[in-house]
Amino acid sequence: MNATADTALTRPIRRVAVLGAGTMGHGIAQVSATAGYETTLYDIDMATVEAGLARIRRNLDKGVEVGKVDPDDRRATLGRLRLTSDLPRAVREADLVVEAAPERIDLKHELWRAVEREVDENALLATNTSSLSIARLAEALERPERFLGLHFFNPVHIMALVEVVWGPRTDEATRSDGMAFARSLGKEPILVKDSPGFASSRLGVLLGLEAMRMVEEGVASPEDIDRAMELGYRHPMGPLKLTDLVGLDVRLSIAEYLHETLGSEAFRPPEILRRLVAQGKLGKKTGEGFHVWRNE
Ligand SMILES: NC(=O)c1ccc[n+]([C@@H]2O[C@H](COP(=O)([O-])OP(=O)(O)OC[C@H]3O[C@@H](n4cnc5c(N)ncnc54)[C@H](O)[C@@H]3O)[C@@H](O)[C@H]2O)c1
Repeated sequence: MNATADTALTRPIRRVAVLGAGTMGHGIAQVSATAGYETTLYDIDMATVEAGLARIRRNLDKGVEVGKVDPDDRRATLGRLRLTSDLPRAVREADLVVEAAPERIDLKHELWRAVEREVDENALLATNTSSLSIARLAEALERPERFLGLHFFNPVHIMALVEVVWGPRTDEATRSDGMAFARSLGKEPILVKDSPGFASSRLGVLLGLEAMRMVEEGVASPEDIDRAMELGYRHPMGPLKLTDLVGLDVRLSIAEYLHETLGSEAFRPPEILRRLVAQGKLGKKTGEGFHVWRNE
């Protein structure tokens, strides 16, 4: 059975509010406006919201340059975007609120409490958290049945996957609206039960950790381990290269979290990962991780 067969929204969505205009928020606002939703981008000050808009412009300009975005669509997308640093204004008329604020439970709880005071009682509420439990986040809400995770990937305008994460209190209509909304953005959603690492990180991180243990054991070089997955399993990028791109420090903290919450030794961070992080070798962003990078 295909659990993702439902396509129609059970509640009309016309206006979307995106909270947080950083790495993820600006991208979510971009794909929302591109898909035809009146989209409001919010952050704590106008300079940050405007920086988010500048990133959207750059993405769209690049799209036009390479022939992936029609100039008229670029104009229409920008025309559907509103900017604000006033939270009540951002969410008051929203049919869907997508939160992409920093990954801190206290901050997100406070934000969601403030949102719920202003937002329409039927609005759909979604968080883009990559690791926090949907059940824990929902504790801040009076009406948690309309709350779920919409886990987009970076860069949002390019990556097709969205994990639609349902918690113990998320109702059926909310799940199916989350799936339908993601599809309306041209994304490919998957339905995932709230659990540490959801479906993507739990598997992806594990592969990276095992590859690191293989480097420690001298099974093969990082280059050859990556090549094994790229050529033998058709992965577009080997697990160590991917770790370098994501950042070794980011991977270490995810591994520590998954080790603690899932209790499986498979997620215990390998010594080599801790050592490289302590040496400041964090991957592409510092020029070296499991590979050496010539950063342009
Ligand atoms: N970066 C990624 O690759 C990635 C991928 C998937 C999911 N996520 C998740 O997305 C969320 C945002 O991550 P990011 O990488 O975009 O972070 P970011 O730091 O780039 O952006 C966060 C933004 O939130 C703003 N902010 C701070 N306090 C706020 C508040 N009280 N209300 C609203 N906004 C506030 C900040 O000013 C900043 O612009 C996190 O939950 C993260 O786990 C990140």
